[in-house]
Amino acid sequence: MSRFTLPRDLYFGENSLEVLKTLKGKKAMVVVGGGSMKRNGFLAKVENYLKEAGMEVALYEGVEPDPSVETVMDGAAKMREFGPDWIVSIGGGSPIDAAKAMWIFYEHPEAKFEDVAKPFNIPVLRNKAKFVAIPSTSGTATEVTAFSVITDYKAKIKYPLADFEITPDIAILDSDIAQTMPPKLTAHTGMDALTHATEAYVAGLRSDFTDPLAIKAILMIKEHLLNSFNGDKVARDKMHIAQCLAGMAFSNALLGIAHSMAHKTGAFFHIPHGCANAIYLPYVIDFNKKDCAERYAEIARFIGLKGNTTDELIDAYTAMIQEMNTQMGIPLSMKDYGIKKEDFEANLKTISINSEADACTGSNPRVTKAADFEKILTSIYYGNKIDY
Ligand SMILES: NC(=O)c1ccc[n+]([C@@H]2O[C@H](COP(=O)([O-])OP(=O)(O)OC[C@H]3O[C@@H](n4cnc5c(N)ncnc54)[C@H](O)[C@@H]3O)[C@@H](O)[C@H]2O)c1
Ligand SMILES: [Fe+2]
Repeated sequence: MSRFTLPRDLYFGENSLEVLKTLKGKKAMVVVGGGSMKRNGFLAKVENYLKEAGMEVALYEGVEPDPSVETVMDGAAKMREFGPDWIVSIGGGSPIDAAKAMWIFYEHPEAKFEDVAKPFNIPVLRNKAKFVAIPSTSGTATEVTAFSVITDYKAKIKYPLADFEITPDIAILDSDIAQTMPPKLTAHTGMDALTHATEAYVAGLRSDFTDPLAIKAILMIKEHLLNSFNGDKVARDKMHIAQCLAGMAFSNALLGIAHSMAHKTGAFFHIPHGCANAIYLPYVIDFNKKDCAERYAEIARFIGLKGNTTDELIDAYTAMIQEMNTQMGIPLSMKDYGIKKEDFEANLKTISINSEADACTGSNPRVTKAADFEKILTSIYYGNKIDY
């Protein structure tokens, strides 16, 4: 038996934020990040619309990028004090993911983080509150996914919490909100979305439901990401939709080892998530192609790349990814990103072991063990094309 789960409602386009006026409830807790939503006036709009719906509104502000277990527990305690029946999160992947995890510990104060971090082990939610997600970046698609990425900074591990319980009830893709992203954030989050779609297209649980979402997302990202990066408003809007399609695909098909390594290197070297994926994806494709070459060639054909053989088509796709990276100022190796050789070497074994244990490794098309991760990461560090 397989499962395909998405939010019940998705609102998109101009002024879609206004749907908040129609929610039925008494109390809403709004969870937000460091200040960009406040500065740009979106937070005030959210508060006002919820008040128009007749709700008392409380704010949880200041969720940091890559939210910690401590932030999650603090927010859950604030939720228990306030007692919201709606949790409304607005911002990038970080505040929305934090809010999803707070929701778990709000409804289940007795739950233990280590139990919740086991895949598909989250207790039943929605006894106290429902969840609205309003993304301000075009990449993570956390507004439609069953995931929340929380970092344990003491153990230096990023945990992808995974369960359809935390798939939001309502996602709002308002055209205005992602327009304020600076170019670097647009680049990183856009390449995160390309990685989601590409990994989902070859992942363990891919299906006839996820394939069309993934491949359409890849086509849209190829057509619109560079223009979105250069500030084109229509392209920016298209990217907001494309990343969401990619999210619908990977939430159900799962991901692969670009994400395993992004999660585990992220906690050591603080490479932004999307930037890490952008660097790793071409190497991962070359590693995985022993097991799923035809699938990658299908992607290349669908998006109009040229090649006479499967290998040529795959090379055209990895070249396209690296060209997009270059045009957006993303380096092609970890060394060029600026990670020092001694830091890389000192942490390589631990990162490789952690990567094997990551929740995304099991759904990668090619079985990947810690020793493989050591080789792959070394190739990525020096920028050597993978041929093993
Ligand atoms: N839950 C999932 O399915 C999923 C998937 C992929 C990644 N993630 C996680 O999401 C996090 C990354 O999220 P992200 O890439 O969206 O970034 P983010 O939420 O960490 O935000 C990064 C920065 O961008 C700013 N920002 C956000 N929106 C803006 C806007 N519209 N205008 C101006 N500034 C803006 C924020 O204030 C912050 O400083 C990571 O922790 C990653 O592991 C989650
Ligand atoms: Fe991601």
